[in-house]
Amino acid sequence: MSASVYVFDAYGTLFDVHSAIGRYRDMIGPQADRLSEMWRIKQLEYTWTLSLMGRFRDFADVTAAALDVAAAGFGGLPNGLRPKLLAAYEELEAYPDVAPALQALRAKGAKTAILSNGTEAMLARATQVAGLNDLFDAVISIDALKLYKPAPAVYGLVGKRFVTTPAEVSFQSSNRWDIAGAKAFGFHTTWINRTGKPDEYLDLPPDRIVASLHKLI
Ligand code: LAC
Repeated sequence: MSASVYVFDAYGTLFDVHSAIGRYRDMIGPQADRLSEMWRIKQLEYTWTLSLMGRFRDFADVTAAALDVAAAGFGGLPNGLRPKLLAAYEELEAYPDVAPALQALRAKGAKTAILSNGTEAMLARATQVAGLNDLFDAVISIDALKLYKPAPAVYGLVGKRFVTTPAEVSFQSSNRWDIAGAKAFGFHTTWINRTGKPDEYLDLPPDRIVASLHKLI
């Protein structure tokens, strides 16, 4: 399939969400990985519950609330670490395959974009710190909708930015539930399964599964 627009999820796909805790692993100790997993799980849970309730708190707010409850479950954070972790979340590491894949797609004439739950400010900061600003034609946040993925209207934001049909869009995410949402909307989908996770949402299969963005082109 030769898509005209390649749209990427941000958190977990372009940016390593576990790199924030990873930076302070020594201060946190052996539960660092489990804390990071729980932070992510709670963050996503809050996006889903808020949207189902018809309510909205932005992704920065949700991320902070999720850290607090995750940390409480592990006996709290060492003094002074909370602001450091939230600052680190604004400056997550990009996976090393991201920039070369974006450059290769753009060299082929494809348009590239981010579609993310992140706030406009979070996405602007993350792309700037990772040196990716010049590699996207659009950075689309759900902020304007006040609704989180996988609501169909979120995927519909792509069509408001690019003149294209859903079938001409290639959507990339490492989050399998996000791939299911994008597939249900009608996008061509590629699941970036970096860690060999088992498949799920079997009624909404990805069109492609790759272990790295290097395999995208
Ligand atoms: C995002 C979350 C789902 O970037 O990772 O939209």
